[in-house]
Amino acid sequence: MSTTEKTTVSFILNDIPQTLSVNPLRRFSDVLREDLGLTGTKVGCDAGDCGACTILVDGEQRYACLTAVGQLEGHSARTVEGLAKNGDLTALQLAFLDEGAAQCGICTPGMLMAAQSLLDRTPNPTEPQVLDALGGVLCRCTGYTKIVEAVLKAGQTSASEATPPSGSAVGSRMVKVDGKQKLTGEEIFSADHAPEYSLWLRAIRSPHPRAKFTLAHPEKVLNKYPGIVKILTADDVTGNNGFGIYPHIKDQPVLAKDHVRFRGEAVVALVGERDAVESVSEEDLGLTWEPLEAIRGWDAALSGKLEPVQAEIPDNILAEGLLKKNDVEKAFAESYAVAEGNWTTSAVEHGYIEPEAGYARKVGQRLEIFVCTQSPYMDQTEVAQVLGIELEQIRIIPSAVGGAFGGKLDLSVQPLVALAAWILERPVRCIYTRPESLASTTKRHPVQMRAKAGCTRDGMLTAYEYHGDFNTGAYASWGPTVADRVPIHCSGPYFVPNVFAKTRALLTNESPSGAFRGFGTPQAAIANDALLDELAEKVGMDALDFRIKNALRKGDRTPTNQLLENSVGQLECLESLKGRWDSWRKEAEVFNQKNTKLKRGVGCGSAWYGCGNTSLSNPSTIRVGINGEGKLTLYNGAMDIGQGANTIMVQICADALGLPASQFEYVMGDTDLTADAGKTSASRQAFVSGKATQLAGEHLRAQIIHLAEAAENATLRLEQKGISGSGEIIVADETGEHVIVLADILPQTNGDVLTGEGAFDPPTTPLDENRQGSPYATYGFGAHIAEVEVDIMLGTTKVLRLAAAHDVGKTINPTLVEGQIHGGVAQGLGLALMEEYVQCVSENLHDYLLPTVGDMPEIEVILIEDPEPLGPYGAKGIGEHALIPTAPAILGGIKHATGISIRHVPATPDRVFTALQKAGKNNG
Ligand code: FES
Ligand code: FES
Repeated sequence: MSTTEKTTVSFILNDIPQTLSVNPLRRFSDVLREDLGLTGTKVGCDAGDCGACTILVDGEQRYACLTAVGQLEGHSARTVEGLAKNGDLTALQLAFLDEGAAQCGICTPGMLMAAQSLLDRTPNPTEPQVLDALGGVLCRCTGYTKIVEAVLKAGQTSASEATPPSGSAVGSRMVKVDGKQKLTGEEIFSADHAPEYSLWLRAIRSPHPRAKFTLAHPEKVLNKYPGIVKILTADDVTGNNGFGIYPHIKDQPVLAKDHVRFRGEAVVALVGERDAVESVSEEDLGLTWEPLEAIRGWDAALSGKLEPVQAEIPDNILAEGLLKKNDVEKAFAESYAVAEGNWTTSAVEHGYIEPEAGYARKVGQRLEIFVCTQSPYMDQTEVAQVLGIELEQIRIIPSAVGGAFGGKLDLSVQPLVALAAWILERPVRCIYTRPESLASTTKRHPVQMRAKAGCTRDGMLTAYEYHGDFNTGAYASWGPTVADRVPIHCSGPYFVPNVFAKTRALLTNESPSGAFRGFGTPQAAIANDALLDELAEKVGMDALDFRIKNALRKGDRTPTNQLLENSVGQLECLESLKGRWDSWRKEAEVFNQKNTKLKRGVGCGSAWYGCGNTSLSNPSTIRVGINGEGKLTLYNGAMDIGQGANTIMVQICADALGLPASQFEYVMGDTDLTADAGKTSASRQAFVSGKATQLAGEHLRAQIIHLAEAAENATLRLEQKGISGSGEIIVADETGEHVIVLADILPQTNGDVLTGEGAFDPPTTPLDENRQGSPYATYGFGAHIAEVEVDIMLGTTKVLRLAAAHDVGKTINPTLVEGQIHGGVAQGLGLALMEEYVQCVSENLHDYLLPTVGDMPEIEVILIEDPEPLGPYGAKGIGEHALIPTAPAILGGIKHATGISIRHVPATPDRVFTALQKAGKNNG
């Protein structure tokens, strides 16, 4: 049968009989989404690797992407849309909502269906049964912990607060304001929606890391494939054919001209009917390649033997970072003990389950772009300069974001669909395939590090030296930021009087490295914690006691000589772990005495991380408005990428205003409707946009109090149909009730009658030539301990349990903070043990290993609250902090278990086995 031939297929779908005239070979996931409009079933890979498309067929789990629609004939299928009845969530869905089991929500439909298949057979499953049932579905956000808890608790009473009363939203376990739609399939992600009759866009990408190319006969394609409307090349770019994060670096072409610098770089974009764009081959286009020798890795970048990656940067050194505090050489010479070493870490893929997607359409002389993004306002600026049009002509409408972690800060589909839609004056959509997403988007920087630390006889740190070469790939992306941030953070959350750090971001012909949860700090922490362990051993101290002794405290100065005056909870984090540390270490020793093949060990990792941009203005503006009907809307420009910004901003605003969180509606990230709240990165939204939100709520409250001529401490009540028949605010104080009839107030252009606005830009100072100054207004702190079990004969490592202590200033929502920490642990575990992106080898989710539910340890979260006076109700960030300590803790555990220090990360079984073999520890 040809791929276009149709036949009739009859089956039951969510209890409703269906008869379709369809090609029976088509993927059922595609038929569900594109023909039936049931976009609740997600597609993360189209290859049976991610489980996002899990549905039930005759009650059994099935990947819809690997199911041909013809196989449904005579069978019964159920999708996430078939769970809730008449808007009432099932017990399982309610448990997901209560537990906070859906973060971004892109894996949630697949998770729910996998869990439902188990619960249908086994209403009260055991934990191993749950792990078994969920084993085929990947989640990159949650660390699985809350998902497993939700399945185990399905049907039990909730501990969460759907509607905390007025004045008590902050600190409550309020369920996510966007939680329900993530559980029913109603949430609209980037691939879930496009205008009718949108054209499709497919980029043709380089199969070579470095090559020249020519395009011989695009016109033949247009003749051969009438469905092709346009073949876009670099010559079609109407503005600047270059984009990038920094105003002075726009080095990555939208479409390469004549030559490519990395495998996966876009050279041509085909636009037209879907079948046509998917059918055209490179041969059709007459695309010919002249491969050139590529610069791969650090040594090649610095050797000078090949033409530089970018002609303007002859030494391939894109950026350098430096920090110098006092005299490390003298301090090392006077130190009692010194430890040093070299480490290498690998490229790591963000692994969000939602591949990049979106559409653009021209509306009058403006362009609307619907896309998954972490940074709508940056997208707006970038697309405007690529098209050569005014900023105001671009509207970014963010979709729900199915995971990001830094990877959706850079442009992906935006300039391509924008250019096509602008030129063709027709809507154009694009959905990256998983291999395309893996090949073309940024990675965590691979790094080669050399570090050295010294201490006194009684274990006080004296000096720290760090050199890091970060492989930033073919284009800048966030390379300069990584090179800048790492020197500040590389000596960890410890007081060190003498520090020298030097970093370089090196250009190579590899995938561009960009922002990924921590901006290089997680890699540097691996070296730092290993050195602290070694120093502790040299002076005969317990490794945790050594850290406690050196932990940064209030009144200490950081490596940039910044005085820490407030909210420095590192000591409390470490001390909170002490009891567990001692008992876990003892238990591991007892275990090891009885076992020869399996060895257990416990390690510790630490984190500190400045919230926000480094020594740069970093403002957020948030608005809240009420219209004449009493509709209360939070205009939130702080993108929720799964972490819960939508929810915590409502919680903060509710308490600042004095109304219940349940009365809020919200708009997220739409550049026409919200003010610029900056990008969702660098753990800044809770702190920076959270403060702006608090100020916005207080601003609106002040206006209401003023209008009512009421006392400051008055209570507010919002009624959408008051006695007047319109929206009313009833303001009560000891003099009585004052009624504001909202319809009596002249509306503003957006229809609101009252608007509160808050803006916050955290105070920092510029850094001098030695990078001395105050780069961040506040820092978050944390420490993890991990117990691991190493199979000496196989080299495999299993993380058994992990305790994570974090100083978050103030917990706005414990459920969401715990979720961030669980997810950070999972990503840290992947960094430590399994994740390694290699071009050509791991360009799919089968060969690129992400942690599954079975890889996760038991995680205990300890929240420390040392309030930050600048933050909203004392809160600071947690996004990056949650990941940083995990890999060092795991690697420290391997060292404790086996005596070997793994210096090339991830500690894959082959690397651990080889290291053990070299040390003579597994030779029988
Ligand atoms: S989309 Fe089907 S398994 Fe990933
Ligand atoms: S919530 Fe699972 S991938 Fe985001």
